[in-house]
Amino acid sequence: MSLAAVILAAGKGTRMKSGLPKVMHRVCGRPMIEYVLDAVQGAGVEEIVVVVGFGGDLVARTVQDRARVVYQHQQLGTAHALLQAAPVLGNFPGAILVVCGDTPLVTSSTLARLAAAHAEMGARATILTAILEDPTGYGRVIRDGEGRVQRIVEQRDATPRELAVKEINTGIYCFSAPGLFDALSAIKSENAQGEYYLTDIIGQLVQQGEPVAALKVEDPREVEGINDRRQLARMEAYLRQQILEELMLSGVTVVDPATTFVDRNVKIGPDTVIYPFTIIEGNTVIGRNCVIGPGSRLIDVQTGEGVVIEHSVIRESKIGDKCTIGPFAYIRPGCVLAPEVKVGDFVELKKTVVGRGSKIPHLSYVGDATVGSGVNIGAGTITCNYDGEKKWPTVIGDGAFIGSNTNLVAPVEVGKGAFIGAGSTITRDVPPGALGIERGRQRNIENWLQKKPRR
Ligand code: UD1
Ligand code: CA
Repeated sequence: MSLAAVILAAGKGTRMKSGLPKVMHRVCGRPMIEYVLDAVQGAGVEEIVVVVGFGGDLVARTVQDRARVVYQHQQLGTAHALLQAAPVLGNFPGAILVVCGDTPLVTSSTLARLAAAHAEMGARATILTAILEDPTGYGRVIRDGEGRVQRIVEQRDATPRELAVKEINTGIYCFSAPGLFDALSAIKSENAQGEYYLTDIIGQLVQQGEPVAALKVEDPREVEGINDRRQLARMEAYLRQQILEELMLSGVTVVDPATTFVDRNVKIGPDTVIYPFTIIEGNTVIGRNCVIGPGSRLIDVQTGEGVVIEHSVIRESKIGDKCTIGPFAYIRPGCVLAPEVKVGDFVELKKTVVGRGSKIPHLSYVGDATVGSGVNIGAGTITCNYDGEKKWPTVIGDGAFIGSNTNLVAPVEVGKGAFIGAGSTITRDVPPGALGIERGRQRNIENWLQKKPRR
C-alpha cells in the first residue's frame, strides 16, 4: 500500500516562551524537526508534507530539500493544520502517517509498524498510544467496556474520571487518505481552547461506525513530546546519553559521560579518547586514535588520526593527522593544518593554512596567513593583518624561522628558508634564505650607577 506522511509543525509552541518556532529548537545540536523527518523518511513513505506556520519560512528552509511545505497561516488547531495538506494529498490513494514535529525520538520502525497495523486491521484511523505513569498534559484515549477505542479527550476538556486514564494519544496516527480531508472539514472547535482538534476525528469516525484501531508503542520514551524547556532539557540529557553509548560501543573511550557533550551528527573514530568537560558540536568528524580534551570545544571541525587537542576551542577548521593543539589554543574558522603541526599554548589562528610539521608553539596570533612546511614561529609572533580598513595576507615560505616577538606587517612575504631576527617589525618582503632583522642596535653603558644623572 502506498504511504505518505504529514508532519505538523506550524504551532508557535507557546509554552516554550520563544521567538523561535518550537520545532527549530535544537536537541543535541539538531532542530527537532530533522529527527522527525529522518524517522518518517526511514519508514518508507513516498511523499512527505510539512505543515509550517509560526516562523514558517525558517522551518521551510530547513525541510524544503526533503519535503513538500504547506503553510497554515493561522494556528487554529491540529485538525486545521492537517487540512492544509489537502492540496498535496487530497487525491492520495493510500495511507497517511501524521506525526507531530515535537516528538523527536520517534523511530522509523515504530512508524512502519503503525502503518502495517493500520493496513492489517483494515482501519480508517489507527492511533499510536502509550501507557504513561504520569499522563498529565496529553490527550487520553477513551475506550468502551470491551476495550474498543471511542474517542480522545484533551487534558483541558477531560472529566476527573477521564484524567485518571493512563493511555495517552501520542499525536501520531495513520489515516486512510480517501475521505480524510472531508472528515477534517467537519470538525468543530467547541472545546476549552476553541481550536480544531485533530483528535476529534476519532470520535467522529467511531460514531459513523467506521473502524478505528489503536497500537501501543513499546517504549513510551519514543513518543515524548516537547512542550516546554524543561522537557527540552530532559530530552537533551536522554539523547546525549544515547549518543555517548553508541560512541562507546563503537570503540570510543568517553572518560566521563556526565561531562561530555556530543551532537547527533558528530562522527568519532575508534580508539579516540574523550576527556571530561569536552563539547563536540555540529558536523564535526574526528579520526581514530585521537585524544580530545579535557576542556575542549570543537564546532564543525574535521580532524585526521592521532590528533591531540587539550583545553582548546576550534571552529570550522581542518586538523591533519598527528597535530597537537593546545593547551589553550583558539583556532578560528577557515584554518587548515597539514599533518604533524604543533599549535601550542595561547596561540590564536584565523583563516590560516599551515604546512606539514610546522610549529607555532606559544603566544602567537597568526591570521590570514599561509605558512609553509617545517616553519618555526617563535613565541609572541603577531601577524599584523588589519590596517584598520582591510585584512591583508602574510605568506611564510617552507623552512622559515621566525624569531620570537616578531611583528609581520601584512601584506608581507617571508621567503623559503629565511630567518627573522627576534623582536623585528617586518614591513618589507624577506627574500628566500635571507635574514630579516629590524631593531635598534643594543648599547651597553658601563658603570651605569656612577654615570646615572643625579637629582
Ligand atoms: C497534541 C494532541 C494530544 C496529544 C499530544 C501528543 C491535539 C488536539 N492534541 O496535544 O492529544 O496527546 O499532541 O504530544 O491534537 N500544530 C500545528 N498547527 C496548529 C496547532 C498545532 O501545526 O494549529 C502542531 C504543532 O506545531 C505541534 C503539533 O501540532 O507540532 C502538536 O501541537 P501541540 O500544541 O504541541 O499539541 P499538544 O497540546 O501537545
Ligand atoms: Ca505537543
